[in-house]
Formats: sequence, C-alpha cells, structure tokens
Amino acid sequence: MAVKNAMTSDFLHSAYGGESMAHMRYLTWGAVAEKEGFPNIGKLFEAISFAERVHANNHFKEIGGATSDATVTAGAVFGMGKTVDNLQGAINGELHEVEQMYPVYLNAAEFQAEQGAKRSFHFALEAEKIHADLFAQAQNAAKEGKDMELKSVYICPVCGHTVLDGAPDNCPVCGAKKEMYKKF
Ligand SMILES: [Fe+2]
Ligand SMILES: [Fe+2]
Repeated sequence: MAVKNAMTSDFLHSAYGGESMAHMRYLTWGAVAEKEGFPNIGKLFEAISFAERVHANNHFKEIGGATSDATVTAGAVFGMGKTVDNLQGAINGELHEVEQMYPVYLNAAEFQAEQGAKRSFHFALEAEKIHADLFAQAQNAAKEGKDMELKSVYICPVCGHTVLDGAPDNCPVCGAKKEMYKKF
C-alpha cells in the first residue's frame, strides 16, 4: 500500500536514496578490499551491499503510487581510501542509520500510522545494527593487516537480516524461511 502522509513519504524517499548509494558504495569498497588481499572483507561488503538493495527495494515499493519525478536528498559517505578507512566510512554510515535516521523515521511512520513504511524502516534498522557490528569486526582484523575470519555470509532477501556462516531456520526479524536466504 502506498504511503499517504507527506512526512513519512519524504523519509521513504530519503531512505531509498541513502540505501541505493550504500549499495553502490559497498560494491566499490568490496572490490578495493579484494585487491588489497582481503577476500572475506570483500565478500562481506558484497553481501551487505545486497542487504542495502533489499532495503532500497522495500522503501521504493512503499512509496508506491503513480510514476513521478522527485529530487531525493539523502546523506552519503564519500571517500576512496584503504580498506581500514573505507570500513570506518561504513561504520559511520551504519551508526548514523542506527542511532539517528531510522529511529526518527520509524517514530514518524508510527505516529502517522503508516504500517508499510513502519515495517520497511524496522527491517532496515534491525539489519543496520548487525552491519555496524560486522564492519567493526572487519576493521579490527584489517587494522592488524589480516582478513576477517568467515566462510560465508547469508542475507535475508525480505528484510536484509545478515548472518555469518549459516542461516537460521527462520529469520529472527521477518520470519522468512532458511531456504530463502541468499548465500555469499
Ligand atoms: Fe547496512
Ligand atoms: Fe528477514
């Protein structure tokens, strides 16, 4: 169902822009990590890039409505440094989403009784908490010149829930079945 209230609609547009850019940024930084000899950190970036795409897609659907043009203003982290620096950019972006952006957006959607937007913001907020933590783990390894220890990364294609080395029977955030998770 399409969003009805202007404020929540603005937040959905902004979050769509932010997630779209995060999607691209992580692909770029993932390629840098691989070149630097950190294939697992590269894989983490690639997998989380997919999670951000899931969020962007969810927000886009909630905007709904007829075809329209809109200028989107969204925060984005820029910079092409070494992997340790890129991971700091990733941590900063995720923490901004966890500590400020999504809690505010979620409250607005709740206040305006926008159930679809509420669901979409909630999904993103829960995944970004995990992302901030995983990027911090990756940065600790990279600071010592080491790759992150992981075999695979699993992403829920409904909500973007992110987990290392094996999917749960049901997604703890949205309830999706294990078989639905995308493996990286
Ligand atoms: Fe994220
Ligand atoms: Fe999920």
